[in-house]
Formats: sequence, structure tokens, C-alpha cells
Amino acid sequence: MTELSGTTAIVTGASRGFGRAIAASLVGAGARVVGVARDRTALESTAELLGDGFEPCVADVTDFTLPGRLFDAYRPGLVVLNAGARPLPRALQQLTWEAFSSAWETDVRQAFAFHREALLAPLEPGSTVIAVSSRAAIGGSPLSGGYAGAKATVRFVAGYAADESTRAGLGIRFLSLLPDLTDATGLGGAAVDAYARRLGIDVAEFLRRRGPGQLSPEQVGAAVLDLARGKGENGAAYCVTAEAFEQLG
Ligand SMILES: NC(=O)c1ccc[n+]([C@@H]2O[C@H](COP(=O)([O-])OP(=O)(O)OC[C@H]3O[C@@H](n4cnc5c(N)ncnc54)[C@H](OP(=O)(O)O)[C@@H]3O)[C@@H](O)[C@H]2O)c1
Repeated sequence: MTELSGTTAIVTGASRGFGRAIAASLVGAGARVVGVARDRTALESTAELLGDGFEPCVADVTDFTLPGRLFDAYRPGLVVLNAGARPLPRALQQLTWEAFSSAWETDVRQAFAFHREALLAPLEPGSTVIAVSSRAAIGGSPLSGGYAGAKATVRFVAGYAADESTRAGLGIRFLSLLPDLTDATGLGGAAVDAYARRLGIDVAEFLRRRGPGQLSPEQVGAAVLDLARGKGENGAAYCVTAEAFEQLG
């Protein structure tokens, strides 16, 4: 028996990057993880890596019926909304509206649909919903169009849901996590590459200028595990960087 045994967790975007590391940390703590992504092959390779504790679920988080179907089927005690669209790393004037708004159509839509369903179902008292936002939500990200604003809205949605949970006495904790930019994943790597090119420097120099250390997917997985274990009051937001995992005011 480990501390999360008996807990079923849904992790979206579990096939690679942060989501795979989050799933690994939760499975390692004894949870049964239902991992959601669209690409079956990548999900199956995660399942091979993580073993019996991981159940692949091929689905698109923009399907508005998905939260209800997942909550009815699995009655999760933990939901980690990590899936996110990869922004096209271009300057504002080089984007179409579709490219500018991609994170709104995936990340914000996912946050809206899953938080809404968590409140309506409702999930069991003691359940936790963690929304993966981004540190870009604080400072902006000029080469990714609407991404930073979308991630700020994801954090707001988690906060609104937290208020509703308190008002209705539901006992569900809604938290958000704001990871730093890292080139350790496909999404972050594309952004790092674009920012380095814009400055006319190589990636190694760009990373050196950002400071020592790079946030790893394993650190994000460990941060989610801490939150799953009970760290954080309903409505809290946390930032995770290579150096620190701390609550935002
Ligand atoms: N990497 C960074 O520097 C960074 C920093 C701050 C915040 N974040 C946030 O952290 C989260 C994970 O990022 P990452 O860097 O790990 O990205 P990633 O490597 O590109 O992984 C994204 C995951 O989301 C899934 N996904 C994307 N769209 C989906 C959809 N419509 N339905 C279901 N699954 C979908 C992908 O699988 P499929 O494509 O197969 O569906 C994949 O599993 C994102 O929300 C991102 O915005 C990342």
C-alpha cells in the first residue's frame, strides 16, 4: 500500500512531456492513472513504460462530452488538466487568428468543460482538480500569441471553481500550477528555439542567460504529487521552476 493507492487519477496530455512525468509520479505513489491524449501510439508507449497502473484513454479534451463520460466511468479523486495546444512560435503580426487563439480553443476550453463538470457532477468531497497553467500567465509570452492570456484564464477558471466549491460546501479542492518555460518538452523546446532565434543567439546561450538549471518534467511530476498528497488550500496557485516550488500570493 502506498499513499495514493485506491485513488483513481485522470491526467490529460499524459502521452509525453509534463503529462507523462505527472502520470509516472502518481503511478509511483500507487494511484491508478487514466491517461488521456489523442495519439494512440504515444499513449501506448507511456503505458508500456508505466505498467499496470496506467490506463490509456484515446480522446480529445476539446470534446465537450469527455469530462462527463470520464467522471461517470472512473469517479476520479484527482484530475490533472495538463493537455495543451502547442502555440505557433511567431510574432503577433505573423499569426492568423486561428494560430493566435489555439490555446483558447484547447487549454481554456478544457478548463471550462472539466471544471464545470467537476462542480456539476459533483466530484466526491476530498477530490482535487489541478489545472496546469504557465508562468507565462504572469509575464506574457510575446512569441506565442494568445497563449499567455489563455493560461491566465485557466488560472482564473480554477479560482472561480474554487469559490463555487466553497460556496456550495462541495469539499473539492481546485488548484493551479504555473510551470516555468523549459526546453525539456516539445512545447517548451519550440518556444525556447524561437526566442533564441529572435535574439540571434543559440539555444545554449539563451538558456545560460535565463539562469542556472532547467525545469525538468520530473520536477513538475513531483510538484503535482505534493499537491495530490494535500499541499495547498482550495483556490491556491503554485509556481514551479528549476529552483523552487512555491505558492503565489
Ligand atoms: N513545456 C513548457 O515549457 C511549459 C511551461 C509552462 C506550462 N506548460 C504547460 O504544460 C502542459 C504540458 O506541456 P508539455 O510541454 O508537456 O507539452 P507537450 O510535450 O506538447 O505535450 C502535450 C500533451 O497534451 C496532449 N494534447 C494536446 N492537445 C490535446 C487534445 N486536444 N486532446 C487531448 N490531448 C491533447 C498531447 O498529446 P496528443 O497530441 O497525442 O493529443 C500531449 O500528451 C501544457 O498545458 C503547457 O501549456 C508547458
